[in-house]
Amino acid sequence: MKKFKVYSPDSPEETKMEKQHRALARKVAAESIVLLKNTGVLPLKTQKVALYGAGARMTIRGGAGSGDMRERYSVNIEEGLQNANVTITSKAWLDRFQSDYQKQSDDRRNLIEEKIKDYTQKDVLKMFEVIAAVPLKYPIGSKIALEEIPQDDTQNAIYVVARQAGEGHDRHVEKGDFLLDDVEVANIKLLAQKFKNLTVIVNCGSMIDLSPLDQIDNIGAILFVGQVGTEGGNAVADVLLGKVTPSGKLVDTWAKKYTDFPAAESYSYLGSDLTNADYTEGIYVGYRYFDTFNVAPRYPFGFGLSYTTFDFKSTSQLIKGSSVKVKTQVKNIGDTYSGKETIQLYISKPGIQVQSEKIALCAFEKTANLKPGETAELTLSFDLNDVAVFNEEKALWLLEKGDYTLLLGDSSQNISPIAVLKVSQDIDVEKVAHICPKTRDFKELEVAKGKTHVAAGDVPSLTVDPAAFKLIEHSYQPSTAEPTAKTTEILNNLNIEDLVTLCVGGGQFDKYYNLTPGVAGNTTAALLEKGIPNINLSDGPAGLNVLTETLITPDGIQKFLRKIPDSNNWGFIRKMADYAIAKPQEGRPVYQFMTAWPAVVNQAQTWDPDLVKQIGSAIGAEMLEIGVSLWLAPAINIHRNPLCGRNFEYYSEDPYLTSVMASAVIEGVQSHQGVGVTVKHFCCNNQEENRDHMSANLSERTLREIYTKAFKFVVKHAQPKAVMSSYNKVNGVYTANNYDLLTKLLRNEFGFTGIVMTDWNAAAEGKADYQKCQASGNDLIMPGYPVARESLLAGLKKGTIPEKAIKTSAIRILNLIFSSAVGEDF
Ligand code: BGC
Repeated sequence: MKKFKVYSPDSPEETKMEKQHRALARKVAAESIVLLKNTGVLPLKTQKVALYGAGARMTIRGGAGSGDMRERYSVNIEEGLQNANVTITSKAWLDRFQSDYQKQSDDRRNLIEEKIKDYTQKDVLKMFEVIAAVPLKYPIGSKIALEEIPQDDTQNAIYVVARQAGEGHDRHVEKGDFLLDDVEVANIKLLAQKFKNLTVIVNCGSMIDLSPLDQIDNIGAILFVGQVGTEGGNAVADVLLGKVTPSGKLVDTWAKKYTDFPAAESYSYLGSDLTNADYTEGIYVGYRYFDTFNVAPRYPFGFGLSYTTFDFKSTSQLIKGSSVKVKTQVKNIGDTYSGKETIQLYISKPGIQVQSEKIALCAFEKTANLKPGETAELTLSFDLNDVAVFNEEKALWLLEKGDYTLLLGDSSQNISPIAVLKVSQDIDVEKVAHICPKTRDFKELEVAKGKTHVAAGDVPSLTVDPAAFKLIEHSYQPSTAEPTAKTTEILNNLNIEDLVTLCVGGGQFDKYYNLTPGVAGNTTAALLEKGIPNINLSDGPAGLNVLTETLITPDGIQKFLRKIPDSNNWGFIRKMADYAIAKPQEGRPVYQFMTAWPAVVNQAQTWDPDLVKQIGSAIGAEMLEIGVSLWLAPAINIHRNPLCGRNFEYYSEDPYLTSVMASAVIEGVQSHQGVGVTVKHFCCNNQEENRDHMSANLSERTLREIYTKAFKFVVKHAQPKAVMSSYNKVNGVYTANNYDLLTKLLRNEFGFTGIVMTDWNAAAEGKADYQKCQASGNDLIMPGYPVARESLLAGLKKGTIPEKAIKTSAIRILNLIFSSAVGEDF
């Protein structure tokens, strides 16, 4: 048997596929950009731009942490504009910005190197503590000097505000983070005085407070570009120059100020207790809160301008069984620019028995590119079962008797009634068992029953036939799994200890059969002799986060090729350069230039599931190319609060939009035989601070209607191969130890049949318990260390883990391995 196998290319040449994926990344980025304001300065009228702000040269193409990417190269906004033959007239400021930043980062490195100069390899954890204690803040850039402003005031000025965020930390309501810094405000003010045409670009994975801009006259345009991926600069230039008409729409409500968000003061580090997050706002997240409680946002959910204007109307509405269809006509009524429009359908429920949000998104469709004067027909459809509310007392999903008004519009605030659905009696949709009881006594936000319904007025009415619905009921029991013909053969050869070995990831083992340098994890390679190869799991969700250039020695050892990557070039790693770096002739060079896609938040802002499905398909193809079997994405947590450090990895504040977009990416990836996705983090991973010790406390209704709704939808519509639980607890119980979540909800109710894994080191001393993981319905403990295996063996002996649970998990893991492309190839 061969000692190892490498799928990755051994040539650094840019492949045809890479080029195609770059082109798609550019298209997605351009379609994801949201135009928030435009007095007519955009598209740019001249090819001369005075460009400032941190994001001009250090354009953020994606967030930090496991959601980061390592790609061949990325295009910043300055380069993007230059590629489009724009002359940049502010090089003096940009060069000064860059050299200031370089100095700051060199000083930091020298300081750290000094502090750790006596450390050895065994001090690795201590070394990372020192590094973390001296964070390098993303630069703001300094004040623009008068001589850095070109004299010719007819040209355009652009100021790019940039913010970075990532795993492990939430953003801060401080200047330079959620708030604009004084230097930024002063710079923008100065440019507004000196130039006729000023555009402010926000380059950040989530919103920031733009209120200081209200005091500055003459800001001609504001663009929210999010985090634009590898081709970001080119895509921004496409929009600025009018090659692409912006068609992105916000996926979150932008408040006028931070404290306008519900439960703002107690979020994460702002609250008094970092171990408990009480979700006091209940189901009123995002626009559900702003609309219901009449708080005016700065920009509403679903909002985004275009270079052209559209007219739209509903032409017919139809109900068949539980399925509702709304036909809509959209016309580009501008006379200059082509463009795309996204029409959104909201529903206002009766809210009499169960209090309800004023409106909830239930369908949307985006047009193709419409030329001036051109009309498109769209059909928006949804299933009434999906808009049922959860009656907590009865543990029942219910369509209560009453009127359901349908409202059509181009944002959550620009909508009007188009039809009313009449439900003549209560319809029981799904009966469930209670889960996750609340352990803390706090009240969730409430509205008076019956006060939130939007009256339909004089619109057509449709009658819902209760006989068209069939009550769904569940049986609750430990789940089972069946081996395939291939895995039955293998199973016969395994003893119970081998089965336990399978249930613990390969982090315990440093020699693998299938090698993909830089992946976040692997299944075990300890059972090769018994015919079981390891498979590899790569982060997500902006692409495949693997090493770009490595070398594999004839013994299968992975080394850096030629140099240590900048991000690893620290402390003892640098000292070990002689060992860690290899030259091409010492083994097999491996090149993995994967596409860095625009951040997930950008993907959602396209409101175009077909486009997102294409991203998924491209990622699936890249997985096959480098031998990755499971993608650790999509991440579908809800944007509960704009400060969450990982919002850029998640889709939206709205569960329905999240569901549709995530299903699309899953379908794309899994359209390739032999690769699969891992939907994460199940569930309520809505803050990063103290994420592995905190408890998200919420009512069963909020848990079901907001925080697990998208998981339910994607399991039903896209059958992901894996789910990853989160670090946190839900109502006091770690999700990785939570039978209610992993077995009753995910498997018994949602019907999930794939594998469940823990998040990385979520099970460890002082965190989730190893044995309870297995007894709760978890299959795989990641990344996997010997201590986890020993604990599972002890649990089996003591009887805290049923042997059947281990066997079931092992079967699922084997089925996954042998249905993967690399497993089949073994
Ligand atoms: C993150 C996961 C990620 C895993 C592996 C964890 O810290 O929460 O999203 O997939 O690491 O890198």
